[in-house]
Amino acid sequence: MIDNPLYGRDYLRMLDLTVQELQLVLDTAAAFKNRWASDPISAQQQAPFTGQAVAIIMEKPSLRTRVSFERAVERLGAQAIVMSDTTSAFSRGESLQDTMLVLERYVDALVIRSFDQSRIQEMADWATIPVVNALTDAFHPCQGLADFMTIQECFGQLKGLKLAYLGDGANNMAHTYLEGAALFGMQAVIAAPAGYQPDPQYLSDAQASAAQTGAELIVCESPEEALAGANVVITDSWASMGFEAEHAKRVEVFRPYQVSMESFKLAAEGAIFLHCLPAHRGEEVLDEVMDAGFSRIYDEAENRMHAQQALLYLLMSKEMPA
Ligand code: CP
Ligand code: NVA
Repeated sequence: MIDNPLYGRDYLRMLDLTVQELQLVLDTAAAFKNRWASDPISAQQQAPFTGQAVAIIMEKPSLRTRVSFERAVERLGAQAIVMSDTTSAFSRGESLQDTMLVLERYVDALVIRSFDQSRIQEMADWATIPVVNALTDAFHPCQGLADFMTIQECFGQLKGLKLAYLGDGANNMAHTYLEGAALFGMQAVIAAPAGYQPDPQYLSDAQASAAQTGAELIVCESPEEALAGANVVITDSWASMGFEAEHAKRVEVFRPYQVSMESFKLAAEGAIFLHCLPAHRGEEVLDEVMDAGFSRIYDEAENRMHAQQALLYLLMSKEMPA
């Protein structure tokens, strides 16, 4: 009997899961994190996926996602097979169909960093095993898990908190925060210049979810409006992977959205700062914020591993975690 609602599913964006399912991932992640910290020997012995394997395919560079997924897979007792160089996966122009239908004969889940959302969606449509989005141009839902886990750790709750995101409102992180905030019933204010605001379709998808949970989603141009009374202040690089050629132009457009100690003072008492990393210190955020006591960037990075261990466990196991 299958009693785990996530078994066999894909995770391509946060809206793929219900808030109850996302909460299950976060709770499982917190339990794994505690277990590994308090009793690593018993945690190691509980690795349930001996003999199974997870392929990690990176079509863009990665530090955190690659290493945190490799460690998460190892902690589950499975083998991680990383394909990130130019001689693997799609390098010879093989069709998505052939690549997926071959890979699933060898492995039990696929973790993929890619470009268009439609490309990973097509891969997931071909594969009959779980496919996890490890970042596309549109979404970064595994980073979303780690970030909402970190916020929950800091505040003990998510519902009702105000999240301010400053900078490139059209990128994968902005879209991910809209979806997560909508599902968890938060207030999210995305402050971004005209021309760099969220994709209208993704915003509308998130608004539909927000209507069910009481979340409030606002897109504006004013960084001050976003920062005012925010509990969580977040930014991301101004030129995401694939947009490096626009870097000089973007630095000029985004300069008013830089997070400094002065702008952070507008946030609520006890506010925290998050950044998915890699950060461009001196551009979207200053050292004084990155290295402040309220910055939770390294906990956030650590939580990638725990959240992804929980996610893979739930996608790959018929049973709920003990
Ligand atoms: N935050 C994140 O996904 O980092 P990497 O690009 O290094 O994987
Ligand atoms: N928005 C960034 C996130 C990196 C983890 C990018 O896509 O490059």
